[in-house]
Amino acid sequence: MPENAHMAGPKSSAKKSEGDRGEKKAKKPKKTKGQTWAKEGPRDPFEMLDSLPEEKQQEIQKALYLFSLGQGPPKTMQDARRHNYRFWNTQPVRKIDEEVTSHGPIQSEMQSIREESYSLPQGFCWESLDLGNPEQLGELCTLLNENYTEEDDNTLRFHYTPQFLLWALCPPGWRSEWHCGVRVSANRKLVGFISAVPTTVQIHSTERKMVEVNFLCVHKKLRSKRMAPVLIREMAWRVQRHGLMQAIYGTSAMLPTPMASSRYWHRSLNPRKLIELNFSSLSRNMTLQRALKLNRLPEKTKTAGLRLMARADIPRVQVLLRKYLRGFHLFPILNQEEVQHWLLPQDGVIDTYVVEAPDGVITDMVSFYTMSSTVLNHLVHTSLKAAYALYTVATATPVQQLMEDVLVIAKARGFDVFMALSVMENNVFLEPLRFTEGGSGVQYYLYNWRCPSITEDKVGMVLK
Ligand SMILES: CC(C)(COP(=O)(O)OP(=O)(O)OC[C@H]1O[C@@H](n2cnc3c(N)ncnc32)[C@H](O)[C@@H]1OP(=O)(O)O)[C@@H](O)C(=O)NCCC(=O)NCCS
Repeated sequence: MPENAHMAGPKSSAKKSEGDRGEKKAKKPKKTKGQTWAKEGPRDPFEMLDSLPEEKQQEIQKALYLFSLGQGPPKTMQDARRHNYRFWNTQPVRKIDEEVTSHGPIQSEMQSIREESYSLPQGFCWESLDLGNPEQLGELCTLLNENYTEEDDNTLRFHYTPQFLLWALCPPGWRSEWHCGVRVSANRKLVGFISAVPTTVQIHSTERKMVEVNFLCVHKKLRSKRMAPVLIREMAWRVQRHGLMQAIYGTSAMLPTPMASSRYWHRSLNPRKLIELNFSSLSRNMTLQRALKLNRLPEKTKTAGLRLMARADIPRVQVLLRKYLRGFHLFPILNQEEVQHWLLPQDGVIDTYVVEAPDGVITDMVSFYTMSSTVLNHLVHTSLKAAYALYTVATATPVQQLMEDVLVIAKARGFDVFMALSVMENNVFLEPLRFTEGGSGVQYYLYNWRCPSITEDKVGMVLK
């Protein structure tokens, strides 16, 4: 679930807390539930904004960020305690500060399920996207690229490609109705989206079929109108109809209540560019020359037998991964089709390297996916290419050596930065390999499942 915060390097965003917003909103006259995000009022500030040139709009956005007037849910637990979660308090999720020692569903799994979709305000309609249709896939790329992610200070914007979205949204068992879009009825413009993909997850000692929810996105012009709760409710219903009662999702926002938290770390592969982009900064007493030297990597990889994963490796990679992940308290259980889908290399989307011993045994593996960003408002640079660590399993090669080799490969392949979450055993190599802690993190959430929290080193799952 990459979102804007993923890209945050050491600079973190300082948004105004949702608590303030909630208090102000409470004084407004009550609106019809579920209808509040329709266009309303004679003076739409977005129309006024729209009439300004793109450059001016970006300046305003930057100014809003600088003055910390951005909106959104709380980012910290402290703010969360003061926030009135008007929507989330109605959902089967663990409450803020609720002590949990038991394991199981929060709401009955036997309750009857409504027959129809949630209703949308007049002028909007649901549409399950057909991602096999290049036009619809393109529309989704546009919605996400223009509305899903952007650094708060308006410098970087994720660039989703059709190939990446097909990878992220069409794993084995995918359903079109779980690619849930909202369109403006009159012109068919796609203005909202939420997705779910099936997965089997082990949480502590319970194995559960559920969905991973991702790409919740509301067009910028429809923000703060309570559209997100309608999308989330609708998705919960579409999933429950198929007998799945739990979901896992991740975001940088502080919602009720994370079952695990992790931080993003990043390793400069192209330090000069990252500094020029203000993605990294030079600390006091650090010169560019010294930064370049510190981040220098060997010319060649060290590990014998390291190579790209091939189709024939799928069964052996599955066994290696399954065995390794069993040591964690939260992890996906992948069958062979899923290993093929999620890990078999696809140019510009997903890479997996394996180490094959002389006897043919696959002893180690490292996987990462590719996310490119468009650089906004920069005279020299136009894009940034980032690798995001997925699974690293080292049974024969020292993990630090394996990861260093992967950094060497990623650099040679034109990546500017390598990102990794502080989950699994990543902490073993992060600092020694000069990763720096970034300004953002990912909170892991479960829908309709209560269980004790899990520390980051026991999280064996990366939410894409
Ligand atoms: C996330 C997003 C859809 C929220 O829409 P919005 O217009 O800001 O918020 P709405 O008025 O529709 O809804 C507000 C409710 O959604 C909740 N919410 C906000 N962001 C959320 C998120 N990422 N996940 C789940 N719920 C979220 C808020 O907490 C609030 O509920 P509350 O009253 O219980 O606190 C929108 O900001 C967006 O598209 N952002 C860019 C993409 C993004 O960050 N997506 C999330 C990545 S997983």
